[in-house]
Amino acid sequence: MSYNDLRPKVTEIVANDNETIENRLHKICTLLADRIAYYDWVGFYFRNGDKEELKLGPYVGEPTDHTIIPFGKGICGQVAVSNQNFVVPDVNAQDNYIACSISVKAEIVVPIFVDGNNIGQIDIDSKTADPFTEEDERFLEFVCEAVSKMF
Ligand code: SME
Repeated sequence: MSYNDLRPKVTEIVANDNETIENRLHKICTLLADRIAYYDWVGFYFRNGDKEELKLGPYVGEPTDHTIIPFGKGICGQVAVSNQNFVVPDVNAQDNYIACSISVKAEIVVPIFVDGNNIGQIDIDSKTADPFTEEDERFLEFVCEAVSKMF
């Protein structure tokens, strides 16, 4: 399935006010992990209240010990302070990286903004080396924009 087919499905999930935000986020994770072959772990992290840390939200994939990530730590923590997409073609080449599973080869993190504030991010791990393109970035920016409308 192409990204163009997935976009309306994301919009539909987000617009369903009958579901809790948690459930809608989980459905987005499931959709992406099911439909995009190299998305092996898909999850959301959100700022934990006023603390300088991220807290794990809904996800699909292997359970992770990293339910709290301080700002600045790992790929996720760096995006919390940089406000920029972070595409990692080879996680082993990163010094500031938090390994969740030894089978992960690549990662992409895209921030979510509400009223200009970075409230969290979508995080995707891949067992495929160097799989992410600009198309993934544009698609995930669309997903994050859609998700921001729930907040
Ligand atoms: N690899 C991430 C940690 C989160 S897991 O991928 C689920 C990082 O370096 O921030």
